[in-house]
Amino acid sequence: IIMDGNGRWAQRRGMPRSTGHIHGAKAVNGIVEAAARADVRTLTLYAFSSDNWGRPSLEVDALMRLLQRYLTTETRQCIEQSIRINVIGRRDRLRPSLVRAIEQSERLTADCSRMCLRIAIDYSSQHSILEAACRAARSGRASIEEFEHLLADVDHSVPNTGAVDLLIRTGGEQRLSDFLLWDCAYAELYFTDR
Ligand code: FPP
Repeated sequence: IIMDGNGRWAQRRGMPRSTGHIHGAKAVNGIVEAAARADVRTLTLYAFSSDNWGRPSLEVDALMRLLQRYLTTETRQCIEQSIRINVIGRRDRLRPSLVRAIEQSERLTADCSRMCLRIAIDYSSQHSILEAACRAARSGRASIEEFEHLLADVDHSVPNTGAVDLLIRTGGEQRLSDFLLWDCAYAELYFTDR
């Protein structure tokens, strides 16, 4: 899911954009529960794209704190529901406290098997594909399966999540915005104005 439209949602109500993100984070719980009930195997949420570093530093800071708070407060709930947490994307540009929260959530939920909740933070498909392609080139060549393993490795993703069946983007835009480009090769695309 590309969770778009938080800023506009808040601005329409005379609130700061970061309030939109707080409401977006609250909506995440309902989405995760609904997906688990629907037997979704992997749910990936685009929380922070690599392009988002270009936003005002106050907004970036609010998002980083929100993501860290989500991980530290929701991990227990995820364990109870047997939901495995996995954060995909680059980690070398994240603050150390967020990296620690990611590692802790991943470790504590590593044995959960009902659903995998992947949260994309500092994620860019183009960057991941390029990095995996460089690694493939170093080893000669790669089959599609081997390339997918390299890609999962670059992304810190749990392996074998499979292709994306359904991509949802909220907020009215009809674009992929550098999200799971490889994995969406055969995906159904659903765009909603909400
Ligand atoms: C896009 O809306 C949304 C984001 C950049 C952030 C999404 C992040 C959250 C909802 C935070 C919580 C996430 C999790 C997984 C706990 P926008 O600001 O681009 O909205 P706009 O298009 O109206 O400007």
